[in-house]
Amino acid sequence: MKSNKFPIDEVRSQFPALNFKNKEQVFPVYFDGPGGTQMVQSCIDRMLEYIETGMANLHGTFSTSQKTDLLLEKAKEAVGDLLNCSAREVAFGQNMTSLAFQVSNALRPLIEEGDEILVTQLDHRANVDPWIHLAKETGATVKWLPVDKEKLALDLTNLDSLINPKTKVVAVGLSSNLTGTVTDAKRIFKAAKNVGAITIADAVHAVPHFLIDKQELESDILFCSAYKFFGPHLGIAAIKKGLFERLEIPKLQPAPNEIPYKLETGTQNHEGIAGLCGAISFIESLGRGNSRREKLGFGMKAIEAHEEELMNELQEFLQSIPEVELFRAGNDIKKTPTFAFKIKDIHSREATEFFAEKFNLCIGDGHFYAATMAEVFPVMDTGGWIRIGFAPYNTFEEIAIFKTALKELLLMKT
Ligand SMILES: Cc1ncc(COP(=O)(O)O)c(C=O)c1O
Repeated sequence: MKSNKFPIDEVRSQFPALNFKNKEQVFPVYFDGPGGTQMVQSCIDRMLEYIETGMANLHGTFSTSQKTDLLLEKAKEAVGDLLNCSAREVAFGQNMTSLAFQVSNALRPLIEEGDEILVTQLDHRANVDPWIHLAKETGATVKWLPVDKEKLALDLTNLDSLINPKTKVVAVGLSSNLTGTVTDAKRIFKAAKNVGAITIADAVHAVPHFLIDKQELESDILFCSAYKFFGPHLGIAAIKKGLFERLEIPKLQPAPNEIPYKLETGTQNHEGIAGLCGAISFIESLGRGNSRREKLGFGMKAIEAHEEELMNELQEFLQSIPEVELFRAGNDIKKTPTFAFKIKDIHSREATEFFAEKFNLCIGDGHFYAATMAEVFPVMDTGGWIRIGFAPYNTFEEIAIFKTALKELLLMKT
């Protein structure tokens, strides 16, 4: 059962939180990767190193300030390799949501009344509401790419009419943080580019699971969040140079006007940025090759292969339980190892409480901000979905614990 290729023991040894037992002395099982992964040791080390060797603000003459200047440049280079974009296109911020709102305000001068903005029903609302807000402010119309309820993927049948010469912004999540469905964003963005629209990718749930190529995707603006891939709570925006230069971002008068710094209002989370470098180097350490990009590519492949094995195991189990209603796209659609399901006649919160209290299983419930999906289906009367999402440190043994937990819950309730 155990994968012999993936260095799972070595990987687990790099996540100290896995050893932190609860008050009943039970080890945690972290199945809430899509809500945020645990922090890898190399991230913690880099944060501590930055703090312990002296922190500073930027552009000073003294060594800790120069160290901080260099750190920010190096971090942007690392993100550039992770996403395949230029370091000059990378800006940091509080989190994805705040960056998206900031960018939506900066897009205002480029949008006019009567223009159209396309969002999707499948997305986390952080990639919906900033663009609805932009439409409200400018008089643009919001159009929705619908979800196919059977397929649990976006329905692209009417893509050619939904994206038309009036379309100015197209915002698409690369993969769903609820169902794991991976969207053919490349196809959507190609149609958007044909009419000259700005393409926005929410890569928050994608970056932890597969290698992103921002250029190949033709996404003008891409967002991700480091706490979803073993790093600190830190948002990242990558914006294509020409567009970035045109964006009018509200800023303090003396702050720099150049990209990418103009998006970074105030002092950044320097220790977090140091940690981000450590998180990226963890992925790199799982790969091989001559360049960092190549190593990251192989590292992500190794993660994907491990997560796919876990995914198959859990999917088979969930499908074998008659009381479980699984919201999962079919075999022809790529998915991340993120599962949404409901249990017949059991409120989702009651189930996750049972899992947490009896087994120290960290499993989320609710709509996970994929709130449009919760309207489409609708599921909130019974507590929304239960979500299990894997990270590279998860194991078959942990899935076995969940199997026992679910069987016990069902026995108790029937
Ligand atoms: C797919 C997706 N997009 C956006 C966000 C929002 O990210 P942040 O918490 O950095 O604002 C999340 C967070 O869960 C997410 O899963």
